[in-house]
Amino acid sequence: MLDVIKNRRSIRSYTDKDVEENKIIEILKAAMQAPSSKNSQPWEFVIVDDKDILNELSKVQHRAKHIKEAPICLAVLGNKDRFLKAGKWMQDLGASTENLLLEATNQGLASCWTGVFPKNKVVNKVKVALDLPENLVPYALISIGYSNEKNKYIDRFDKNKVYRNKVKNE
Ligand SMILES: Cc1cc2nc3c(=O)[nH]c(=O)nc-3n(C[C@H](O)[C@H](O)[C@H](O)COP(=O)(O)O)c2cc1C
Repeated sequence: MLDVIKNRRSIRSYTDKDVEENKIIEILKAAMQAPSSKNSQPWEFVIVDDKDILNELSKVQHRAKHIKEAPICLAVLGNKDRFLKAGKWMQDLGASTENLLLEATNQGLASCWTGVFPKNKVVNKVKVALDLPENLVPYALISIGYSNEKNKYIDRFDKNKVYRNKVKNE
């Protein structure tokens, strides 16, 4: 298994150290390198480093408080103009978000995925905080920063969740 997969954990405390611009770009490159349905690439990103907006984002739902501790937060958005009829954009953005988290880990940074979509109330609060146009839908908020916390690897492999060829109902 890749080390970044093992080492990625949700870390919710950060130091004051800023995240270098070149690292943010590498992370966004990884996010945009993800597979997507018919190569639709239905994603957009907002880099948030304004303290007032970080504070506002930390209040969009009760498990978002860590966002105000981070030097930056990347908002992952879906671009409705690129959504396909089959409605696969959520899967596309999931793949992109995981790439983003893994590259953050690769850059020696701590991160945490904060859920936004599909909760309407949360979606609307993020839309207001980021002044989004109608065609952009907030999907997730990813706080990123340096941390003194160590990423602890926990082995989650469970052979009972794996079948070969067919699954028999007992
Ligand atoms: C779709 C999704 C939504 C999540 N939402 C939140 C959230 O709102 N707040 C939070 O602190 N963590 C959130 N997490 C992080 C999970 O709690 C975390 O991934 C899980 O507990 C496993 O821990 P690990 O990431 O350290 O491996 C979310 C993760 C996913 C994939």
